[in-house]
Order: sequence, then C-alpha cells, then structure tokens
Amino acid sequence: MMALPPSKHHHDKPKSLPTIKGDKAPGSIKRPSHSKRSPTAVASTAKQLTSPELVALEYADLNLNYDNVSQEVGHVRIRQHVNPFAPSFSIPAPVPNWCQVFKDSTLPLMVDIGSGSGRFLMWLAKRNPDSQNYLGLEIRQKLAKRAEFWVKELSLHNIHFMFANATISFKELVSAYPGPLMLVSLLCPDPHFKKRHHKRRVVQKPLVDSIVKNLMPGGQVFIQSDVLEVAVDMRDRFDAESDLLQHIDTIDPSMQCDEEGWLVKNPMGIRTEREIHAEFEGAKIYRRLYQKLI
Ligand SMILES: C[S@@+](CC[C@H](N)C(=O)[O-])C[C@H]1O[C@@H](n2cnc3c(N)ncnc32)[C@H](O)[C@@H]1O
Repeated sequence: MMALPPSKHHHDKPKSLPTIKGDKAPGSIKRPSHSKRSPTAVASTAKQLTSPELVALEYADLNLNYDNVSQEVGHVRIRQHVNPFAPSFSIPAPVPNWCQVFKDSTLPLMVDIGSGSGRFLMWLAKRNPDSQNYLGLEIRQKLAKRAEFWVKELSLHNIHFMFANATISFKELVSAYPGPLMLVSLLCPDPHFKKRHHKRRVVQKPLVDSIVKNLMPGGQVFIQSDVLEVAVDMRDRFDAESDLLQHIDTIDPSMQCDEEGWLVKNPMGIRTEREIHAEFEGAKIYRRLYQKLI
C-alpha cells in the first residue's frame, strides 16, 4: 500500500463525487518501487499528485487499457446517484451459468456490492487467481460493461461483473452460486443524503438478512463509508445481527478499533476509488468487519 497524503479535515457532509473522466490513467504514472523510497519521499510525491492520479497509481499494477475502452463500451458518463426504484432497475439480473462464468465455480466467492469501476475487485482477483472468485454487482450498466472489458483484457477467469440492482438481484445470484459465499463488501455506498431518499440506500434489512443467511460459517462482511451517517446506518443494521455476526476485534484482537469501534486500518490491502478520493480530501473512512459464527 502506498502512503496517504496527510489528513486535513473530516468530511461528513455531501460533496461532489469525482467523475469517471478522472479514471483515465495518466500515461506517465508508474507504480514506484516502494523499497527505495523513504516515507517522507512518498508523502512529498503524493502531495504533488491529484486525486485521479493517486487512483491511477494505486491500480498501476493492473496495466489497464484506457485507450480502446470508450470505443468498446462508449463514453462512460456518470450521474451522481441513480434511483434504484426506477423501472429500468426493477428487473432481476438473469442468473448466469456460474460454471461458464468462472474457471472453477466451487471456489469461495467474494461479492462487492456497488463495485463502481471494478478496479478494486480486479486488483484482488489478480492476486488470488486460483483460490477465490470475485463478483461485482453494479447498477450502472456502462461501468459493469467497461469492467468486463478490462477483465477480458486481463484474461482473468476468477472475476465477473454484472449490471444488477443488488437490492433486487443479490439473493437469487448468490443462492445459485455453487461454492461458499466467503466475503461481501459494501464500500462507500451512495449516501442518498435526503431523508426521503434514505430508502434508496442499498443497505436495507432484506439485503442484510440475505447476506447473513448466505454467508458461509466464518464468512465476513466488510462495510465502509467516508460519510459517518451512512456508516452508522450500515453499522446499526449489521450490529443488530449479533446472534449470528461478531465484529472482528472480538475474534482477533490484532484488528484494532478506535474508541468508537471503527477499524483503524483497511484490512483489504487495497483502497477503493471513493476511499482514495475521500482520503485525499482529508476525510476519515469508517470501517467495520463482521464475521459469521462458525
Ligand atoms: C460511491 S460509489 C462507490 C464505488 C466503490 N465501491 C468505491 O468505493 O469506490 C457507489 C456505487 O454503488 C453503485 N450502486 C448504487 N446502488 C446500487 C445498487 N442498488 N446495486 C448495485 N450497485 C449500486 C453505484 O452505481 C456506484 O457505482
């Protein structure tokens, strides 16, 4: 993991999300050799980089093709949030034949709900090609399509992205998966700040129930947000499942939490794009990691 720029202040208020335009990796950015750089050198380099450049740097190992992608999938224009209740998002995603999707569909599965550009999940899939499968569910069709374009380019056989409204499709998709559900992540979900729009938030009781029910014993749920209100909302819902879920620090004391119970470190080894942008702006990331009882 690269060093982060120093935190300036916390953001718990609405702020504009970076547009996907910034996803284009600046051609000159290459992952530096960490071993040769002092923390001070890393920090001073990081200070000169823009937030999209930091994203490109974090995912530089993927060597993604940014040149042909818009010819293949069209221009990816991002609206801030979509309304998951719109009729176009109410049709369940067809359950694929998992044996055709993954090289080995019996491997433990990680599902990332709201996978955005998908680079976070691709980074993980590339590191664990033979031990885990990865599924990204994304409500914005072009993002899922572009992620699948990259998956083919990378010749990865343990990852798949689907255009799906997780609220509608999660249960059916994971129930049909032949292997165990090992990890579900909900990372910086759209905050839908207005009270009357809270019902649009992806983490609702039926989804939580379905995650908890389908997780294998010992399986995990990782949640995070840079918006305290959203993090607390998710936390309350998963804390309520304490008969089946335990927070990780009660099982593994090396997983440190701050005095409010938020995990001090990102346990994934890679940050999501929203996380990079938010930390660049000085925001704190509120994280929890739950484990299902064995
Ligand atoms: C703020 S972005 C965060 C993306 C990524 N997880 C990250 O941390 O960088 C939230 C993502 O969730 C997607 N999303 C929102 N509601 C969804 C739903 N019901 N099902 C699937 N994806 C959803 C959005 O389209 C968006 O890409």
